[in-house]
Amino acid sequence: MLVPTLAATAALFTTSAHAWGAAGHEIVATIAEIHLHPPVLAFLRSDSSLIPDYAKGHLAPIATWPDRIRMVPEYRGWSGQLHYGSWDGDHPPQVCSWPGTGDGTDDEGGKGRWHSDNDVIHAVANYTSRLETNPHDWESLRFLVHFLGDIHQPLHLTSRERGGNGDPVLWEGRRTNLHSLWDGLLIARALREHSNYTSPLPSQQIESALMGRIYDPYIRLLLWEGVRTWWRTSLPGWFTCSPSSSALSPSPTPPHPAQLVLGAGPAKATVCPVTWATETHKTTCEMGFPDGYDEHGAPVEAGGKSEFYRRIRDSLTVERLLTQAGLRLAATLNTVLGPVAAAAADEAGLDGRMHEGVLNLSWLEEAEREAW
Ligand SMILES: *[C@@H]1O[C@H](CO)[C@@H](O)[C@H](O)[C@H]1NC(C)=O
Ligand SMILES: *[C@@H]1O[C@H](CO)[C@@H](O)[C@H](O)[C@H]1NC(C)=O
Ligand SMILES: *[C@@H]1O[C@H](CO)[C@@H](O)[C@H](O)[C@H]1NC(C)=O
Repeated sequence: MLVPTLAATAALFTTSAHAWGAAGHEIVATIAEIHLHPPVLAFLRSDSSLIPDYAKGHLAPIATWPDRIRMVPEYRGWSGQLHYGSWDGDHPPQVCSWPGTGDGTDDEGGKGRWHSDNDVIHAVANYTSRLETNPHDWESLRFLVHFLGDIHQPLHLTSRERGGNGDPVLWEGRRTNLHSLWDGLLIARALREHSNYTSPLPSQQIESALMGRIYDPYIRLLLWEGVRTWWRTSLPGWFTCSPSSSALSPSPTPPHPAQLVLGAGPAKATVCPVTWATETHKTTCEMGFPDGYDEHGAPVEAGGKSEFYRRIRDSLTVERLLTQAGLRLAATLNTVLGPVAAAAADEAGLDGRMHEGVLNLSWLEEAEREAW
């Protein structure tokens, strides 16, 4: 009896660990789907290699694919490192190294270098370009959906102790590490803390993307409270590349090759993984680790009543990161796939007209018009 019991327990642990890690990526994909322009979503659904049958027309089921295939021979050895990125010498919270912006406010680490070019920043650029070149490239779509999530996970952006995997902490008295905390435990906790949106919202645009998952109420809250109120004024800034990455700035670091400008005319948008990673890294630095964290000391409590956890919760940091990732993914897909989607719609005699913005925010306009 012992062997099967152990095996069953192990299986339970693997699935639940995986499932929590999966929740973040699926939430990001679902938020993105809600904000796609209808012709773009129709285009994705029209190709069963892009959205396979098992996904039932949704993006969330493909979001964890890059984690699942990491050890498959075809992908082993090269795809794993694309989930992370870091600047050499970074060791938060004591030393925060990241390329300087050149405006004199944050030059620390400006003379260093990227730990590797095979990182999540380059990967976002890589798979964005590949998808633009070949809109039917299902592999690029899956990598892109996943890596947009990873670039918003604070501990995917430092090489300290392999992104905190080697940094033990306690979570409600149980030993874990900071990487797992950010990958899953904080999200799991957030789902429990923000569970008041159990009833459907009046918006069909939002509801039709939900698949009856445990995180549906959380997604409703991120949009209904978050996008509508909490981040309303900062929202436009989420879609501009920081000036440091433009050619105009007298930056000591040349524009990163991974910042892309895509499209033309009103649809022109910039896919700026460097700006996004830089913003996430601020969170890595300010909140990624408990104050004065020392991996050699006895593991400190990072859950419940700890100052570390309260700061993350009260600043809505996990909520912001997931929402930014989802909306930026939507903007990227709308930009990259907009032209081919519009052409496909025209050909099918459907309305291929695309809303001007990089996001379909009709639900927000409707909510305001109807004073929901
Ligand atoms: C770019 O994509 C190709 C094809 O999947 C892959 O071989 C290469 O490693 C990728 N490079 C980066 C930096 O993402
Ligand atoms: C739902 O809970 C959040 C905090 O989790 C709160 O900010 C919000 O006001 C609540 N909204 C409703 C409608 O109860
Ligand atoms: C946004 O998406 C919803 C649902 O797919 C759709 O009804 C609406 O027309 C879209 N808005 C725009 C401006 O395309």
